[in-house]
Amino acid sequence: MHRSFIAGVGHYIPEKVVTNLDLEKIMDTSDEWIRERSGIVERHFVADDENNADMAEKATHKALDRAGLRVEDIDFIIYATLSPEYFFPGSGCILQEKLGLGTIGALDIRNQCSGFIYGLSVADQFIKTGVYKNILLVGSEVQSRGIDLTTRGRDVSVLFGDGAGVAIISRSENKDRGIITTKLHAEGKYIKELWCEDPGSVKNPRLSHELIDSISHWPYMNGRYVFKNAVTRFPEVIQETLKEAGLNKDDVDLVIPHQANMRITEAVRMRLELPEEKVYSNIHKYGNTTAASIPIAMSEAIEEGRIKAGSLVCLAAFGSGFTWASALIRW
Ligand code: ACO
Repeated sequence: MHRSFIAGVGHYIPEKVVTNLDLEKIMDTSDEWIRERSGIVERHFVADDENNADMAEKATHKALDRAGLRVEDIDFIIYATLSPEYFFPGSGCILQEKLGLGTIGALDIRNQCSGFIYGLSVADQFIKTGVYKNILLVGSEVQSRGIDLTTRGRDVSVLFGDGAGVAIISRSENKDRGIITTKLHAEGKYIKELWCEDPGSVKNPRLSHELIDSISHWPYMNGRYVFKNAVTRFPEVIQETLKEAGLNKDDVDLVIPHQANMRITEAVRMRLELPEEKVYSNIHKYGNTTAASIPIAMSEAIEEGRIKAGSLVCLAAFGSGFTWASALIRW
């Protein structure tokens, strides 16, 4: 068996900044409410001519540079998003064409906030078993076009932002570094607590004027219920991963949680009794970028020198499904 490691990470954030004060101008909300409840100060939205895979393409070039690899070294794409360009085909195919990658395989993953770690786990299996050498793993979201930016949708829409992060997962013969383990979970009985009901094939026809009038095409979130589950599942899955690796929380140099909400991150940090410097947070700048939040955070943590060769890094996520997951990586 081979070992897989993260050879390079990159991210791209669209230029347009939308502050809490900007949101105050278009809905009944306040900077104070948003900061207190979520820690978010601003987020970024895509430009009119910018789409999901455009951001992923930019992040990919950055990650390849850092990995010292060329586009043609990529032999498979895994693409995690809940906001793809189209219902079908997947964004992985769009990115493959943009990168000029001929006929290599492209797999889309629909696991929302946990999508990047689910994708990492799939990539890890392919690399370990020798099927591929360099997998491009993407988390990218255009949330701004799928949220109700009026007072009616304020409980959800103030939380989200756009962006992309990617990692190149490569084969390593060095057994001292790389992905140690990943853990994946789901609990489908809670699908309706955080979901976007329409358009989907449950309705016949899939799309109608009545459906749009019923506003079921905007995401719904039972915020308090999500909060309660998240603060339990995050620590649980982190402990599960550490236990399997025979390590404990004090061995970890940096925990990178999915950037859902500052209050969730703080509650998780306190439950695990970790010092502030060991838990990464950049939600104040970007809001919740769903599948993109972990790779964006990883990329920034590397730039800031908070992840170095030899660092033990724990990734963890929780989100719609419910799904939750974690990964332990020796850098
Ligand atoms: N601005 C101003 N007021 C608002 C807003 C807003 N954007 N949204 C809701 N309110 C109002 C509500 O209408 C309500 O008013 P009322 O008391 O007059 O009825 C009041 O604020 C309180 O609303 P609650 O829903 O009770 O607010 P709560 O304190 O529960 O906070 C929140 C809501 C932030 C969503 C919280 O439940 C939470 O943190 N949940 C976690 C969910 C989360 O972060 N999800 C991220 C996506 S999922 C994931 O990535 C894991």
